[in-house]
Amino acid sequence: MMKIFDTRSSFDEFRNSLTPNLTIGLVLTMGNLHAGHLTLIEKSCDDNDITVVTIFVNPKQFGPNEDFNQYPRTLDKDLEKIANLNLILQSKIIIFAPNSNSEIYPENFSTLISVGKMTQLLCGKFRPTHFDGVTTVVFRLFTIAKATNAYFGQKDYQQCVLINKMINDLEIPIKMHIMPIIRNQAGLALSSRNQYLDEEQKIKALRLPQTLIKIEKMLLQSEDPQSIIENELKQSEWDYLEILNAKDLTPLKLDTKLTIDAVVIGAYRLGNTRLLDNRMVKINA
Ligand code: PAF
Repeated sequence: MMKIFDTRSSFDEFRNSLTPNLTIGLVLTMGNLHAGHLTLIEKSCDDNDITVVTIFVNPKQFGPNEDFNQYPRTLDKDLEKIANLNLILQSKIIIFAPNSNSEIYPENFSTLISVGKMTQLLCGKFRPTHFDGVTTVVFRLFTIAKATNAYFGQKDYQQCVLINKMINDLEIPIKMHIMPIIRNQAGLALSSRNQYLDEEQKIKALRLPQTLIKIEKMLLQSEDPQSIIENELKQSEWDYLEILNAKDLTPLKLDTKLTIDAVVIGAYRLGNTRLLDNRMVKINA
């Protein structure tokens, strides 16, 4: 049976009791688990002796008018989903679900980890403090879990690039793994926020993955997708739609003769819900 801890002290006691040579995988979540999270957990269990899954809705990554209060908190259902994994996986899983914010941010906690300029691009234009909140909690949970490997979903690609930069800059001894996007049958990337959408919006939302696929195909056929992008951006639903260097999210320089790993990345807003998606493309300029 999986073990569950809801305080720092109980988690620390358990963590410190583990023999040092075990490999520890880490899957950080805000709960409301879906198939995307479960693939991260399964991969981590395959790769490591023990997998720590954290469930914590991090207040620092929500802006003042965002959905922190409405964010779905479904701990019982989340535990049930993990309990439905096969028994061998379950026996390797440790859940850390802090029962209050002060377990992570004690009184007087004031440090913020910021990766800098890249936090203000793409989603950062609309959520200027979001990524500092993400890197702060991720650093905090890395330090608490003392894991060997960490698993993140490619759907939040900007988040992945920023966490990777933080790991490199601060020489954090953890290996990051970015796992492919899991989609529903219609092609929409799974996200806890999809449940905010009504039926009509769910259909409209498909414009996001479909446009990214269209652009990817053009790039692979050496066609210029610029006019498609400009046309799409006339629709007010797009917060952004860009083709960037996948490594560091800088603009692409297509005049080089090298193969470039590019990311076609977009955010599409329906009502108050913003959906993210991306596709990786190798471009031969
Ligand atoms: O991707 C998420 O769910 C969150 O940003 C993370 C990484 C769990 C940090 O709160």
